[in-house]
This record gives sequence, C-alpha cells and structure tokens, in this order.
Amino acid sequence: PRTAAVIPAAGRGVRLGPGAPKALRTLNGTPMLIHAVRALAASRAVSLVVVVAPPDGAAEVKSLLDVHALPERTDFLVVPGGESRQESVKLGLDALPPEYDIVLVHDAARPLVPVDTVDAVIDAVREGAVAVVPALPLADTVKEVEPAATPGGPEPVVATPERARLRAVQTPQGFDRATLVRAHETVTDNVTDDASMIEQLGETVVAVPGHEEAFKVTRPLDLVLAEAVLARRRL
Ligand code: C5P
Repeated sequence: PRTAAVIPAAGRGVRLGPGAPKALRTLNGTPMLIHAVRALAASRAVSLVVVVAPPDGAAEVKSLLDVHALPERTDFLVVPGGESRQESVKLGLDALPPEYDIVLVHDAARPLVPVDTVDAVIDAVREGAVAVVPALPLADTVKEVEPAATPGGPEPVVATPERARLRAVQTPQGFDRATLVRAHETVTDNVTDDASMIEQLGETVVAVPGHEEAFKVTRPLDLVLAEAVLARRRL
C-alpha cells in the first residue's frame, strides 16, 4: 500500500503571539513547516507529502520547498488551506492522487516528531487498523469544568476522569484513506483531531506510543523547548 502525508499548515498561530503564520516561523533558522515536512519524508514509506498552505501563502510555501533540501524519493504538492483545520485537511485529501490508500495527517506545528513514531503509526495501519493515533500518558490530573459565572472567574469542577485511562494525542495520525474520506463527507461538527471523526462514524481508533518530542508548538515557551531539542540533535 502507498502512503501519503497531509500536513495542515494554514493556521495563523494566534497563541504564539504576533508574527508570521505559525508554520512559517523559524526554529534555529529553518521554518517550522520545513522541519515537519522533513520529519514525515524521513519515513521511507511516505512517497508523497501534501502541504496545506495559508490561503494567501501557497506561492511562498512552494518556494520554501524549492530552496530547502528534501529527499529525492519523495513527491511534494502544495494546496491552499481553509478557515478551520478540518477544512484544511479536507482540501489536502481532495488533492491526493488515487494510488494512495494510507494517509497520515500531521500538524506542521509538530516539527520534531521522530521517524520511529511516524513508522509505528504507518505499521499499525498496514496491519489493519483504520485509524491510529500516537498517544502519551498524562503528567497532570485533568478536570472537567463548567463555564465560570463571570468571565475569568472561578470555574466549578464537575468531574475528574481517572488519569491512568487518559492519553494526550499527537500526530501523525494514520488512516485508511477511504474511511477518512467518508468521515469528512459525513461528520460536520468542528473537531480538534481527525481520529475523533472516525470515532463518530462508529469505527475503531487505536493508540500507539507517542513521543515527547512530537509536542505541539503552541505558545512562546514551546519555541524555546523546540530550539533546545534541535540544539541537542545538532541541527
Ligand atoms: O490551531 P492548532 O494548533 O490546533 O493547529 C494545528 C495545525 O492545524 C497547525 O499545523 C495549523 O497550521 C493547522 N491549521 C490549518 N488550517 C486552519 C487552522 C489550523 O491548516 N484553518
């Protein structure tokens, strides 16, 4: 089976503070998106990477892919993204040639995912899972709250799910292509990850071990951590 990766990179990155779209900000001099593209193309199983660019930034992303060294054996496509992450992923799926039957969806905001994690996700799909997520146990206890009576005020806690059964979910998430396409045609709710659309279809999603270095660059402190990880790798 042939495997393609879709990388949604159309987010503005508001939580990171003012500046360029998040995926185009640099880590140790190289755009986050390029780190993410290299991380997925590092897998020998991935033969196509589709980058979903900011709607007005497709030309800029194309030229970034041209000037940075990328593996010869991998093909690259750039398509403009949409208003929501979900819409951006859909636009990426629409651009996939028919011969790909396994699809990975990977956040550009997770530039440092190790290739072993990518391969573990692909292997689980090849072994028959329709949807696979890399996941880690939580360090923090998680509470469910109700909205505060006044904005910024105290939020009543309504539940404490058993921590040992919770997982923080990362990307790349891996899918049987036909199932993911069906999910995008059927599920219209706003979702925060792709696998939850598969759950809504009633299909089984499985978790495989994720990796600490697959963390999402969201807030300013995450940029410091990402550059420290890169320095440790000497990149
Ligand atoms: O906002 P969040 O951190 O959940 O974004 C996750 C990924 O989805 C990022 O790589 C971001 O660029 C992408 N995204 C997108 N299109 C949007 C919003 C987010 O491709 N409209």
